[in-house]
Amino acid sequence: MQHSAQHELSLKSPEKYWQEQAKLVAWYKSPETILSTNDNSWHDWFVDGELNSCYLALDYHVEQGRGSQTALIYDSPVTGIKQTFSYFELTSLVAKFADALRAQKVTKGDRVLIYMPMIPQAAIAMLACARLGAIHSVVFGGFAANELAVRINDAEPKVIVSASCGIEITKIIAYKPLIDQAIEIAVHKPNNCIIYQREQVQASLIKGRDLDWQTQMDVAVEIPPVAVKSTDPLYILYTSGTTGKPKGVVRDNGGHAVAMLYSMKNIYGMQQGDTFWAASDVGWVVGHSYIVYGTLMAGCTTIFYEGKPIKTPDAGAFWRVCAEYKVNVLFTAPTAFRAIGKEDPNGDYLKNYNLSSLKRLYLAGERLDPTTYHWLKEKTQLPVIDHWWQTETGWSIASTPLDDGHGNIVATKAGSAGYPVPGFNVQILDVDGQQVPAGKQGSVVIKLPLPPGCLATIYRDPQRLTSGYLSTYPGYYMTGDGGYIDEGGYLFIMGRTDDVINVAGHRLSTGEMEEVLSAHPAVAECAVVGVNDELKGQVPLGLVVIKNGITTSDNDLITELKQKIRTDIGAIASLKNLFIIDRLPKTRSGKILRKTLRQMIDGQEVEIPSTIEDSQVITELLSTLANINKS
Ligand code: COA
Ligand code: AMP
Repeated sequence: MQHSAQHELSLKSPEKYWQEQAKLVAWYKSPETILSTNDNSWHDWFVDGELNSCYLALDYHVEQGRGSQTALIYDSPVTGIKQTFSYFELTSLVAKFADALRAQKVTKGDRVLIYMPMIPQAAIAMLACARLGAIHSVVFGGFAANELAVRINDAEPKVIVSASCGIEITKIIAYKPLIDQAIEIAVHKPNNCIIYQREQVQASLIKGRDLDWQTQMDVAVEIPPVAVKSTDPLYILYTSGTTGKPKGVVRDNGGHAVAMLYSMKNIYGMQQGDTFWAASDVGWVVGHSYIVYGTLMAGCTTIFYEGKPIKTPDAGAFWRVCAEYKVNVLFTAPTAFRAIGKEDPNGDYLKNYNLSSLKRLYLAGERLDPTTYHWLKEKTQLPVIDHWWQTETGWSIASTPLDDGHGNIVATKAGSAGYPVPGFNVQILDVDGQQVPAGKQGSVVIKLPLPPGCLATIYRDPQRLTSGYLSTYPGYYMTGDGGYIDEGGYLFIMGRTDDVINVAGHRLSTGEMEEVLSAHPAVAECAVVGVNDELKGQVPLGLVVIKNGITTSDNDLITELKQKIRTDIGAIASLKNLFIIDRLPKTRSGKILRKTLRQMIDGQEVEIPSTIEDSQVITELLSTLANINKS
């Protein structure tokens, strides 16, 4: 069927459409109620269905006779380790680790926080939680102790699972001191920490609380998966919002399983036995959906790559992995290809590898800029597909269909994320909630209901679902992105309309950075805005006004503040540009003019708002910025 017909059908009869797709799932109890409304006035999918996400990802394939197929490949250029796990082996390890968690009294509905580098034990821990019906919350390894503490307080995990260290290009990061510090800061205290000891660092374990992964595994037995309700949470994944407090996006089991299987087949064109590589990190939604759950549920081989696109050891790393494991689809963030293109502009490394298995490239996490799109297309001669999604949706809202319904390729357009995917009724509204004509920019919204797999709620704060996403345009989910749909129906996502920024495909909150800076005793006020960056897409830039009477030198203060961001949020915040200025441009009501600041810093023409308190401040700032640019 043609994409447009599918899309129309999915919007006209969502229940019928998704009831059909739900047949892809091996439910323990098939759902009869497809779409319903819950106590939070939000929709539930497949409310009376029962299943287990770990069973679907592992045991099911073993039962179907695919036990000896490779489920997971671990390729770690930073340690030199390469390992493969069959579905049979992975099932056994997960079933044992589930027992290790059960031994610490983890049961259905309990939370387990996972803070791990890109090693197979991260997937084992996630799937073991799913096996027990426990809810995992994975925290990206680049976040510092304070961020970890915020998540510990919100998720209240019974157990934390971690490793002794993570390995970056030039440094080893000991995780255990960060965990100890986070637990000390947090009000909630987990009962236990289970630590996977890596060769590079031996973590010291606190008696009575910390347990060694391997010792627990040595005495564990394999335990079976338990049935959970479709609407029981599978995981909580924290993501940056506009305030300092991250939002705990809750994913259900049933809708998620349907969305994963549907998307692997219909968006990525994957079949059992194919190799799908999402070059991301389990700490992000891409890692949850397509390094772990979707890929395994679809019976494909997934790759855990512990390295970078460049410098581990070179800009040919991605091509090497694709050739070595006969990857069929590669999915990563545009920033990774910008990094590769910078080091290898002529694509010389590409020529060293046989990439005949590679069918398509998928990009997400930030807009695929036309320059990178053209470079990739020219160098690889492959379909290059930008597709748009968010932590909240869990899978892509827009993409380019696999074919036009008659076996022909659908053309992609540089700068566009393709067409809305079936299930997503994407519209562009103006500030008054009116639809804008084709080609005109506005707020990108999705008419309710959202399809299966999208956020079930915000953990412990269902009100935030309403206030953050639903109240601005009643009847619509506000994505927080701005963009337009052209005459041909192609969707263009042009950037966030709020204080969220995307740094190297990592979603960060400028509001959170401002909170960290403002907490410093010398800071009177500050503003952090996202500015364009050739490699990372965006990077934060901070402007700080210092209180009168501060004697510390500007240089020392800047160093201190940058360090504070690293220790409170983490190195990934990448706040390298920080400047002390005299005044910030504000409206008469005291609101900092962030949009104006962004325009000024990016060198765009500045529209001076009529509500500005004192337009002289803009002139001063422009001259300060000109001096900064010169130096
Ligand atoms: N644990 C600890 N620290 C981490 C980390 C992790 N998992 N990931 C990144 N960091 C640190 C880095 O070491 C770096 O620290 P530094 O400032 O002390 O050098 C800092 O956070 C910034 O890292 P990063 O944003 O990765 O920048 P980089 O300059 O090291 O590398 C790229 C640039 C483009 C190669 C890299 O950002 C990249 O591979 N991007 C792809 C992103 C991606 O896959 N996103 C997922 C969305 S689909
Ligand atoms: P995250 O929740 O971390 O996945 O980040 C989601 C945000 O990243 C979106 O709201 C967009 O701002 C941005 N994003 C993700 N994919 C794309 C894309 N293909 N094009 C443009 N922006 C994107």
